[in-house]
Amino acid sequence: MNHLFLHCRAGFEKECAAEISDIAAGLGIYGYSKTKDNSAYVLFITHEPDGAENIIRMSGFRQLIFTRQWFACAGLIDNLPVTDRVTPLCEAAAALPKTSELIIETVDTNEGKELSGLSKKIVAPLEKALRAQQSFFAKSPLRLHLVFISGTQAYIGVSPIANSSQWPMGIARLRLPKEAPSRATLKLEEAWHHFIPADEWDIRLASGMRAVDLGAAPGGWTWQLVQRGMYVEAVDNGPMEKSLLETGQVLHILTDGFLYEPKKPVHWLVCDIVDKPARVTSMIIRWFTKKHCREAIFNLKLPMKQRYVEVKKCEERIRAELEKAGFKLDIQFKQLYHDREEVTGYLRVY
Ligand SMILES: C[S@@+](CC[C@H](N)C(=O)[O-])C[C@H]1O[C@@H](n2cnc3c(N)ncnc32)[C@H](O)[C@@H]1O
Repeated sequence: MNHLFLHCRAGFEKECAAEISDIAAGLGIYGYSKTKDNSAYVLFITHEPDGAENIIRMSGFRQLIFTRQWFACAGLIDNLPVTDRVTPLCEAAAALPKTSELIIETVDTNEGKELSGLSKKIVAPLEKALRAQQSFFAKSPLRLHLVFISGTQAYIGVSPIANSSQWPMGIARLRLPKEAPSRATLKLEEAWHHFIPADEWDIRLASGMRAVDLGAAPGGWTWQLVQRGMYVEAVDNGPMEKSLLETGQVLHILTDGFLYEPKKPVHWLVCDIVDKPARVTSMIIRWFTKKHCREAIFNLKLPMKQRYVEVKKCEERIRAELEKAGFKLDIQFKQLYHDREEVTGYLRVY
């Protein structure tokens, strides 16, 4: 397969394309991207016939910042007859490796949403037909993806379950808890799902841990930390939700988050201050150099232009300065579903 289909946030197609071109070139796989502004997807077409599978096989999904979900496919299936879309889709699937599950996705745009009725309607007949032609194999590590681009056009392809997003279209469907003080609470929850494996939550998001939340008001992120049983220093000149302060787990500190330093080291630093990426980056480097925390989740608000370049610049600075100081680190960035003009960073040192 020589087409790599990449879901991204609408408006970030150029960043998604620049990133995949860089990664592919690093692997010695060459190709070109096809993008359309605000389409919420990118196609990277490789010169080698099996280049798309090779990119997926040789690189980790987790390193991608602007791609929400990916799969390898053979190209656009056009002219699907509206009276029988199942037959040509099954024919295309027969040429693919066997998979253990099917997910039907749409692109994340208004036009994409209009196709969700069609997508839902086709699930049962398509699954039945795929089963009949033995396209499924229960132990296959692969997943089958189908994306309708219009009523008569679709892409069908495969991704490794272990090297792709666990969520269809890479969109984390999280329920907004009624008691949470702000919608922003979902950003931290999604970040945990993305950056921290589920079987490590009890150790790394453990009850009794201490955390600092910079730019905490009104308290959506602090609420998540409190739910995990942590003690939180919530730094913001703005007001915090009263019920959080009543838990006895939250100390509200009215000061500038860029100047604040904890008296004793904490496990977690989280920061949701909207400011220049370079300023947040300097603060993160200082916290880790001074060993104020072990792990951090922070937002980088992206500039209007050069957004991919800006994130890479911040990543390189953090990497260079902390490695120079003798740390081994795990650093990742992701534009999460709940991020708009920003990306979320994750950093841990050993
Ligand atoms: C996006 S909101 C944070 C929302 C919060 N994470 C939540 O879940 O409810 C950004 C916050 O950063 C605060 N802020 C901006 N600059 C700051 C600074 N220099 N120090 C501390 N807080 C700051 C603002 O007062 C605002 O409350």
